[in-house]
Amino acid sequence: MRLPAWPLYNIVSVFGRKISPSLYAFPLVSMSIMKSVGSQSCAENLSGSAQDDHCNAMKATNQGESSDSKGTAMHLSKMHLIYGTAWKKDDTARLVADAIRSGFRFIDTACQPKHYNEPGVGQGWSEAAAELGLTRQDFYLQTKFTSVSGQDPKNIPYDRTKPIEEQVKESLEVSLKNLRTDYLDALVLHGPYPSMTSTLKAWRTMESFVEQGIVRLIGVSNMYDLAELEELYEKATIKPSILQNRFYAESDFDTEIRAFCKENDVLYQSFWTLTANRDALATTEVRKLAKTKGLSPQTLMYAFMMTMGHTPLDGTTNLKHMQEDIALESRIKGGEKIFASEDELRKMAEVLGMPDGGMFW
Ligand SMILES: NC(=O)c1ccc[n+]([C@@H]2O[C@H](COP(=O)([O-])OP(=O)(O)OC[C@H]3O[C@@H](n4cnc5c(N)ncnc54)[C@H](OP(=O)(O)O)[C@@H]3O)[C@@H](O)[C@H]2O)c1
Repeated sequence: MRLPAWPLYNIVSVFGRKISPSLYAFPLVSMSIMKSVGSQSCAENLSGSAQDDHCNAMKATNQGESSDSKGTAMHLSKMHLIYGTAWKKDDTARLVADAIRSGFRFIDTACQPKHYNEPGVGQGWSEAAAELGLTRQDFYLQTKFTSVSGQDPKNIPYDRTKPIEEQVKESLEVSLKNLRTDYLDALVLHGPYPSMTSTLKAWRTMESFVEQGIVRLIGVSNMYDLAELEELYEKATIKPSILQNRFYAESDFDTEIRAFCKENDVLYQSFWTLTANRDALATTEVRKLAKTKGLSPQTLMYAFMMTMGHTPLDGTTNLKHMQEDIALESRIKGGEKIFASEDELRKMAEVLGMPDGGMFW
């Protein structure tokens, strides 16, 4: 496979070690990813989460603060939402562009045509970027490798007869083309295989992409067994930086898994954050609390997750919701503590039904 070369300025000291997001520096999430210090993308008219973080990081780096030994690390030291692109079909490009116009800069997708229109994501971000005068460097693009069992058998974006390693490589090539990019900010294994041997085959291939500088961070999704996560973490040469899981009562809200993530600098990305917790969000208690903060129950839920140091995926198709969500993100980035006290956080955790009244505060 011929893999695209990274621009020289992106070749940084990622080889043979984990790119470790220094997360959970409560109350702010601090995420290190490699970025171009030389990029001229901090024009005054640009706004939005990744852009602001990027500009701040560049300023800090230029002042000699917050840089790694080569002065090339970007520190995304703010909490953020990730725009999720599942199930948007032919509306994907339009919705991604709307999300970007609203201020989203972090985007999640997958090389899984059954649920995601990855080419639409590529079209959406690149057209919105051109319109707003943004560059690739202003975005965080994350996609996933999905194994054969998660694909529509009639539409698998790689050769299913080849070994797992080759499937992962072909999938990456397709993603880069679909997303109109020569690197990914993150590549996530959509779900573990039934055996750790197979999971590690995919993982080792993903590690090789980091070593080649094509992918910056690697992670895993749909891993709800702590022992399995621990084993992957232990056996990985490049450790997982991301765990993307459903946040819901059936898994005890991943309480132990989230503790492991916290201890090991693994960014916990949540999905089903609103959908799985609809009943709790409809309670009078949550509605009242949200109202006192000038928020909807949904944006309060996102604030709750971000306060715990997690990153919610947000797949809204509604422009008003996009704007409300970004307004919340801006308030948090502006330093506002949405939850005034530990008691308020505990109350929210209790209404959700989280064990031990929640954690991380
Ligand atoms: N790794 C995996 O296996 C996996 C699985 C599922 C999803 N995901 C990722 O997670 C993303 C999000 O999916 P999700 O299942 O969490 O649900 P979601 O697609 O974000 O759905 C949230 C629901 O809440 C509603 N909503 C109401 N107020 C909202 C607000 N202020 N902001 C956002 N939504 C609001 C939305 O309706 P409106 O559209 O009307 O706003 C929507 O019906 C997906 O797009 C995908 O990227 C990953």
